[in-house]
Amino acid sequence: MNGDFTLFTPTKVVFGHDVETRAGEFVKAFGGTKVLIHYGGQSAVRSGLLARVEDSLKKENIPYVTLGGVVPNPRLEKVYEGVALCKANGVDFLLAVGGGSVIDSAKAIAYALAEPEHDVKELYEHTRAPKACYPLGVVLTLSASGSEMSDSSVISYEDKKRGVNSDLCRPKFALMDPALTKTLPAYQTAAGCADIMMHTMERYFVNGNRMELTDAIAEGLLKTVMHNALVLRDDPENYAARAEIMWAGSLSHNGLTGCGNDAGDWACHRLEHELGALYDVTHGAGLTAVWPAWARYVMKNCLHRFVRFAVNVMGVAPGATDEETAEKGIDALTAFFRSIGMPTNLKELGVSPTEDDFKLLAKNCAIAVGGKIGSAMPLYEKDMEAIYRAAKE
Ligand code: NZQ
Ligand code: ZN
Repeated sequence: MNGDFTLFTPTKVVFGHDVETRAGEFVKAFGGTKVLIHYGGQSAVRSGLLARVEDSLKKENIPYVTLGGVVPNPRLEKVYEGVALCKANGVDFLLAVGGGSVIDSAKAIAYALAEPEHDVKELYEHTRAPKACYPLGVVLTLSASGSEMSDSSVISYEDKKRGVNSDLCRPKFALMDPALTKTLPAYQTAAGCADIMMHTMERYFVNGNRMELTDAIAEGLLKTVMHNALVLRDDPENYAARAEIMWAGSLSHNGLTGCGNDAGDWACHRLEHELGALYDVTHGAGLTAVWPAWARYVMKNCLHRFVRFAVNVMGVAPGATDEETAEKGIDALTAFFRSIGMPTNLKELGVSPTEDDFKLLAKNCAIAVGGKIGSAMPLYEKDMEAIYRAAKE
């Protein structure tokens, strides 16, 4: 029923300066005796973070193995590599040191270890549901995906990018030191802010019941992220702004900003996942590239929410009609995305799909969602194709 909800957010959040040096303490508290430290390319090595995390495990006498090399849009091959390494070493706890890609890869390994008789790929193919998952903890280096508290893991394989959702994979703890995000390139910081906003907006643009408190939290979160994204654009070293963004990232995707709605819209995410699969684009940038076209396509079907968004979030003066107000809100958010260096169409994203590509993207998206997606407006394959096409330039 609309208005009913379940919120399950079991992750212990430890937030602030130098919390990464306590990783060993928390692994021990949650029962880990042999750890896989999972990380990405070079950023955690270069900054000395990995060494600090290793030291914290040594301090607690917890043995560990390490596996780096997780790429953005993380690959199933790396998951299998991690599973083999963990099995060979008797790993019973996963420690992800990184952003969403590393966390999601660790979640996939954790699923695979818990049900070793099955191929973990089946979870992402949705041919079976997970029944168990090994415990994992997170040292977060990028505010974006919200995976440090979310129930989701998104993995790429073949020409697909697919997610699986289950409370089983919610991390046991998340160590969040905003200072760790200061080494991010400006583009990743901005893409992260966009992704954070989209996790709340996917829950905001819905038809059906809403709760006033949930709307107020959502609107406050969106305004906070926009304000601090601009602060960071001009002053990337600003710790306070990094802290606001980091906390927003977790709250935007742990379920809080969706309480009492009808499970969200999620069309932009699913449209983006196909762009990620085909062109390996940065997730947050892919989202901002499709959002304006999506918003214009669905606006009339969810007008009251677009009007509310325009006035309460973007602060625009109401126009002569609701449609005018809604359009002003869409224009304002599009301009905001541009102001932080995010693309607002596919051309700006750097991809130019052919006619066949538009069809393929829409076909794959429709298959991935089981035919239909969206609450602001239910979208079918023909709608998806029209939105991709409208997002061209
Ligand atoms: O690999 P390294 O060298 O670490 O570089 C990474 C990577 O190139 C870099 N980076 C991360 N922390 C850094 C840093 N560079 C300097 N300093 C730091 N502190 O940033 C790049 C991107 O990292 P990635 O983990 O890919 O980014 P993000 O956190 O945005 O994660 C994106 C992935 O998460 C998925 C996306 O689809 C995408 O695959 N999502 C996961 C969700 C979930 N599990 O709940 C929800 C999201 O909607 C999303 O779909
Ligand atoms: Zn996202």
